[in-house]
Amino acid sequence: MDKQKKTIKQFEKIKIDKSWSFIEKTRKETSYLSHGYHRYPAKFIPQIVERLVKKYTREGDLVVDPFGGCGTTLVESKVLGRESVGVDINPVAVLITKAKITPINLLDLEEAFVDLKYKLDSYNSETKINVPKHDRIDYWFKTENKRKLAFISQKISKIKDQDIRDFFYCGLSNILKNCSIWLQKSNKPTRDFDKKPSDPFKIFIRHVNSMLRGNIEFYELLKHRGFLKTKCKVQCTDARKIPAKNNSVSLVVTSPPYVTSYEYADLHQLTALWFKYIKDLSDFRKRFIGTSHHNKKELKLNSIIAEDIKNSLLEKDKKTAEEVATYFSEMNEVFIEMKRMLKKGGRTCIVIGNTSLKGVEILNAEVFAEQLQNLGFKIDNIIKREIPSKNLPSIRNEKTGRFAKVGDKNKKYAYPTEYILVMKKI
Ligand SMILES: C[S@@+](CC[C@H](N)C(=O)[O-])C[C@H]1O[C@@H](n2cnc3c(N)ncnc32)[C@H](O)[C@@H]1O
Repeated sequence: MDKQKKTIKQFEKIKIDKSWSFIEKTRKETSYLSHGYHRYPAKFIPQIVERLVKKYTREGDLVVDPFGGCGTTLVESKVLGRESVGVDINPVAVLITKAKITPINLLDLEEAFVDLKYKLDSYNSETKINVPKHDRIDYWFKTENKRKLAFISQKISKIKDQDIRDFFYCGLSNILKNCSIWLQKSNKPTRDFDKKPSDPFKIFIRHVNSMLRGNIEFYELLKHRGFLKTKCKVQCTDARKIPAKNNSVSLVVTSPPYVTSYEYADLHQLTALWFKYIKDLSDFRKRFIGTSHHNKKELKLNSIIAEDIKNSLLEKDKKTAEEVATYFSEMNEVFIEMKRMLKKGGRTCIVIGNTSLKGVEILNAEVFAEQLQNLGFKIDNIIKREIPSKNLPSIRNEKTGRFAKVGDKNKKYAYPTEYILVMKKI
């Protein structure tokens, strides 16, 4: 049988492993330590990373996340005494991660917060403030909130200690959406003219108070375990340019972006604009893997399954076919980078689900497994897990596993699933 058919068959046989769903974990437990500092779309729960890091590494080993997002892998590695490096192309992700991996002395932070609150109290509608001038900021914020946010930002910028400054900037970034007219429930940039935006001062202070609790928990745990100084670094760069030496990494844990699913550039535009990380969105978008705003270039898919998907899509929609092919080709480049930095016998754990576009199944997990095998990895384990969701689970046919009609007698409620691909460098 062809190798790619064997890979597909292998995936079909995998049963859900409930022990990886962590269904019993409460929101409090998944946002413990510094994990609750900032919302982030498609972040994975810390318990997955913790289990993988414990299983595949020892204290002092190096762990890498090439799509670091808000830093889940780095925080978990640090509390387990593993050195870690994370990168992300999104400067907003890097700001959040920086704050989340930096435990701060409790008294220093308390003192800085008391001082900041005192300064914020001096605000009134006459206070002179330099409000950032940008038509996208005017698009999202009403005048009074813009003034108050600029005032908070101005006062934070005066704090001397960079770690403390970044901690508060992270808090400010997290409240921007609530203070804007961005439709609160939506991840898509949609304006809601009926929304009553939150008062920046009140929500900032409330959120920072919860971050302070996270910092105490994080600081105390690291101190107790003797890992306060464990190396942990984040850099704003591309997943194909990781700052790690050849053959130096024991484990990669990551959840990659999906093709045309989230446009991270659009999603994080409030912070990116407010903190002047970007001038215009169109250039920012092109840097992301999975975007639909890419430039054309030569592609190497390195997977027959990916070629088949592309060909099926070509029959439906040329643009989508190109986007998916670009995505697989860029992911293949990321896997080449993983191979470079991983030690022989080191593993990469990729958390990924499959999707469907224009009626074609996009078998991300199968494609990644094939690409990685072609590059010199072997399948070590494939875990299939349910993604517990607060929303009603979908209805599936118990026999076929496919989505079922309401009248289907074999119907059963099911959560969406995803895979954890564990691939070993040989
Ligand atoms: C699914 S998220 C990762 C979430 C992460 N596991 C967490 O817990 O926060 C995927 C990330 O990939 C990043 N990304 C997209 N293209 C990238 C690239 N070319 N290089 C590095 N990171 C990239 C996005 O900014 C996003 O943060």
